[in-house]
Amino acid sequence: MAIMQPSTITVLGAGYVGLTTAALLAHAGYTVYALEPNKARLDVIKQGRSFFYEAGLDPVIKTALESGKFIPTNSYEDSVPGSDVVFSCVGTPDNPDGSSNLSYVFSAAEQAAKLMKQSAVFVQKSTVPVGTGAKIQELFSTINQSLHYVSNPEFLREGTALEDTLFFDRVVAGGDHTESVQTVLSLYHQLEAQRDSIAAIAAITSTEAKGEYIATGLASAELIKVTANAFLALKISFANSIAKLADKSGADVVEVMDAVGADKRIGRAFLNAGRGYGGGCFPKDVSGLISSGLDYGVDLEIMQAAQGVNGSMPGYVAEKLLQALNGNLEGASIAILGLAFKAGTSDSRKSPGVAIANILSKAGAVVTAYDPKANEEAKEDLLSNITLVDSLDDCVQNATAVVIATEWSEFASLPVTFYQQINSSLIIVDAVNKLDKHALAQSNLQYIGIGR
Ligand code: UGA
Repeated sequence: MAIMQPSTITVLGAGYVGLTTAALLAHAGYTVYALEPNKARLDVIKQGRSFFYEAGLDPVIKTALESGKFIPTNSYEDSVPGSDVVFSCVGTPDNPDGSSNLSYVFSAAEQAAKLMKQSAVFVQKSTVPVGTGAKIQELFSTINQSLHYVSNPEFLREGTALEDTLFFDRVVAGGDHTESVQTVLSLYHQLEAQRDSIAAIAAITSTEAKGEYIATGLASAELIKVTANAFLALKISFANSIAKLADKSGADVVEVMDAVGADKRIGRAFLNAGRGYGGGCFPKDVSGLISSGLDYGVDLEIMQAAQGVNGSMPGYVAEKLLQALNGNLEGASIAILGLAFKAGTSDSRKSPGVAIANILSKAGAVVTAYDPKANEEAKEDLLSNITLVDSLDDCVQNATAVVIATEWSEFASLPVTFYQQINSSLIIVDAVNKLDKHALAQSNLQYIGIGR
């Protein structure tokens, strides 16, 4: 089997996935165009930086740019025609009904197909509903029949994007054209060969990784991605359901999940109960999967339940605080620590911390919020009467209660004395279940966990 040896690659869309992919492939030795239509974002990338916070990414972009192998552009004409492989990493926002909005996916594919050279490979990295690849192949057949389509789903997490991509459990590529699937896998072999030197540039530590290469059919590759995210979301909602029972029965959900997760068949990961999942992926992928199931006449009730539990969690956190305040939030001064949807990122999309802040503010509390990285991104989603501050100390001063909504280590590691000096009868709502409840229990402070 003769597989193509690509030299030039275009990555359409330089967001979390696209920018990481483009910069890494440049370090793997390919000439990579990172195509970003948003001028403000492109200007930042051209300075050798990322427009969002992702640990280790800036030095990787900077060195790639200096090598001349990484070329930021907004032009399809300058990048696509000379590329052997074109990756699509454009956004897939959700429609109001929960289905995936694929307008960027289709328009990027169409624009690229008109310019791609004969027998080039188009690689879909954006998360799309199963069946989308078949539709794009139909579109390609009307533009250029020689193009090959491969689905190569992305499994990186924000905050650990480089670790996840370099030290991967598996790379999946699926399509009808075996050689093209192997071409895509070969890019990752090249990347794997360079990973220690890239890890050194990014100052991240190497981790053990399974490193499996998996070739599948097209529809399977598409379904693998959403199934993986849906299952992880299911685990979180399951843990949160058990947390509600633990609250009523006096069990501690952390103790429960530590022991349950010690069973190899179950695993401890993604069983952390708390304020629920947020971000640009799980909420959208769960609703997208439900909606794509319905398109095929399949009712994924189990995912609807997971979505329902998740939607209830910010309100559940607020309710617990309300009870501690004897049913009266009016005028209570509440500090929200954490607006990012998880630690390690500036991303606040569908962030539970933002949801909790808004619920409490609507209920009459005086809310002050702080995040070490996400203030700027969270600003527009916070109700206007919430005060956003630039430091932890400004956030907590005069607080009646503190809500920890993101598991940033700088919050989790605060000593008991820190809380005591704010207010000796402070209420601490640990919505990420990360604090030492035993240490806090020995003080006068009131500790409220989720299922603890
Ligand atoms: C997720 C997947 O983990 C990635 O594999 C996937 O590539 C990515 O979506 C995507 O589709 O692009 P990400 O959204 O970056 O990654 O973040 P996660 O670390 O998975 O966390 C998602 C949410 O679940 C966060 O709000 C986190 O706080 C929450 N979470 C996670 C819990 O509430 N409990 C847990 O036990 C784990």
